[in-house]
Amino acid sequence: MENIDWGNLGFSYMKADYNLRCYYRDGKWEEMTLSQDEHIPMHIAATCLHYGQEAFEGLKAYRGVDGEIRLFRADENAKRLKSSADYLMMQAPSVDMFVDAVTKVVKANERFIPPYGTGASLYIRPLLIGTGAQVGVSPSDEYLFVIFVTPVGPYYKSGFNPMKVIVDRDHDRAAPLGTGHVKTGGNYVASLLSASWGHDMGYSSVIYLDAKEKRYIDECGAANFFGIKNGTYVTPKSHSVLPSITNLSLTQLAEDLGLTVERREVDLAELATFEEAGSCGTAAVISPIGSVYDPKEDITYSFGDSVGKVTTELYNRLCGIQYGEVEDTHNWVTIVK
Ligand SMILES: Cc1ncc(COP(=O)(O)O)c(C=O)c1O
Repeated sequence: MENIDWGNLGFSYMKADYNLRCYYRDGKWEEMTLSQDEHIPMHIAATCLHYGQEAFEGLKAYRGVDGEIRLFRADENAKRLKSSADYLMMQAPSVDMFVDAVTKVVKANERFIPPYGTGASLYIRPLLIGTGAQVGVSPSDEYLFVIFVTPVGPYYKSGFNPMKVIVDRDHDRAAPLGTGHVKTGGNYVASLLSASWGHDMGYSSVIYLDAKEKRYIDECGAANFFGIKNGTYVTPKSHSVLPSITNLSLTQLAEDLGLTVERREVDLAELATFEEAGSCGTAAVISPIGSVYDPKEDITYSFGDSVGKVTTELYNRLCGIQYGEVEDTHNWVTIVK
């Protein structure tokens, strides 16, 4: 694509050539189709519209140093979509069907995969929605699995720098036994006010605490939290945290580096003891945290003005695997042929 300024792309929608669709009707998945239409026909009583019966995923395709197209742990996204679908009483595609669909739609849009070296990638957004008409609150008997792709720019245009974060005690993203562990739209609409409040206060992201005790860290914006201290990688364990595939990968890389990994409750006050902190997810891989402000206690926890050594090493290793620069010893990558 000669007219796209890959290095200056943001994280917004750009039309690619094709999206992929597949309906579940009469108890089975129909044929997958590629479409150039950006719209979907929708019944006015569809369960996704009224009762939020929907789940989604987010992953990327990368153009590697060797020119090959790589998918990163797409099977894990498939498993997470199945887990979201089970909780929301929806039908989900199998792991094979999901990976096959992702591969097809990536290939069909090959000319939108940004070149190696631009830092840009192809964002892949699978979506599963209840499309059957219901008036009572009950699951749909019809589902649509759609995948669209759109090229997105490098997350760090002005360098890999630490961000300022604020603790939000006035909004909860998810209830203790609610939907926080699944990737459904309701969790994200519930975070809009909070994110907007955080930005108005001058912060890049907000930390959510557990909704019951308001004491333990759940997530940092739409990303998992981790802290580093004394050769240990610590990340919150909570029913309300979305199991991040980036975090799963970072815990493995941390072990490879000789760190101990602890997945447990992380008390907000423990921030005072961390040497490094960050948030992690597909969009940015890692967003290093420079400071966390807690307005209730009027305390700022600081982790320095530059990105820590362990955070930098983890970031470089993970990005290196995604772009084919570092050996993929855990078999995380699939080459799209
Ligand atoms: C709430 C939330 N937490 C964490 C993550 C990070 O997950 P992943 O690393 O799989 O992108 C995401 C993004 O998908 C998210 O929306």
